[in-house]
Amino acid sequence: MISSSEFKINFDFIYNDEEVKKNVYLPSSDTFTFIDALENEIDNIPSDVNMVLEMGTGSGYLILSLYELLKRKNKNVDIFYCVDINKSACNCVKNVLRKNNILNVEIINNDLFNNIRKCEQFDLIVFNPPYVPTEQDEMNTTNIVASYAGGKYGREIIFKFLLNVYAYLNKSGVIYILLEKNNKPHEIMNHTHITEKFLCSLLKKKKTLNETIFIYKLKKKVS
Ligand SMILES: C[S@@+](CC[C@H](N)C(=O)[O-])C[C@H]1O[C@@H](n2cnc3c(N)ncnc32)[C@H](O)[C@@H]1O
Repeated sequence: MISSSEFKINFDFIYNDEEVKKNVYLPSSDTFTFIDALENEIDNIPSDVNMVLEMGTGSGYLILSLYELLKRKNKNVDIFYCVDINKSACNCVKNVLRKNNILNVEIINNDLFNNIRKCEQFDLIVFNPPYVPTEQDEMNTTNIVASYAGGKYGREIIFKFLLNVYAYLNKSGVIYILLEKNNKPHEIMNHTHITEKFLCSLLKKKKTLNETIFIYKLKKKVS
């Protein structure tokens, strides 16, 4: 029997399936930077969590790495929700779950929070959004383009998410979100809507050849 400290998810499907390689965002340096930040945060996550949501799940690598990290620390989550606008991404996650016999993960093929009930239900929300600055004609797709197309300053989906997420987060809830330098992270975090509703802290900044990645933690302010 494998002890929880050795629990490991098998991600072979992501790298071997031709459909996934063509249509789904594969784990990249942004994904790995995000996982590093979550690993450093793991002791700050309570040991019993009801509901975790990943917005923009893609291949599932990020949320399932968090699943693995929590399991290794004997932290229990009742249920994980994975939301993605791309049907191929949802199918990919379904396959990875099946291959790993994971049952407590629900997949929702959805545009952000559309039609999801607003009842402050999530304890933890993570989002590695599409963050690349693009023209408007690349917006509103549901295919691989949706994994990067962020519109003006690459932050149109980011703002849409941040302006809606408050109603879905419980009172002690936390959001982890990735931003890139082109998004002007400082401007986003100083936007009045954000400063009124959240306490923000920068967890990690990582510079690569082409990008500078920022991982922020937002805690809900309660009045
Ligand atoms: C940068 S990729 C991140 C994928 C994965 N979470 C990771 O870290 O490797 C962004 C993901 O967000 C999804 N996405 C983009 N716009 C969305 C929207 N409006 N609603 C839900 N998901 C969206 C894309 O399909 C893509 O899978």
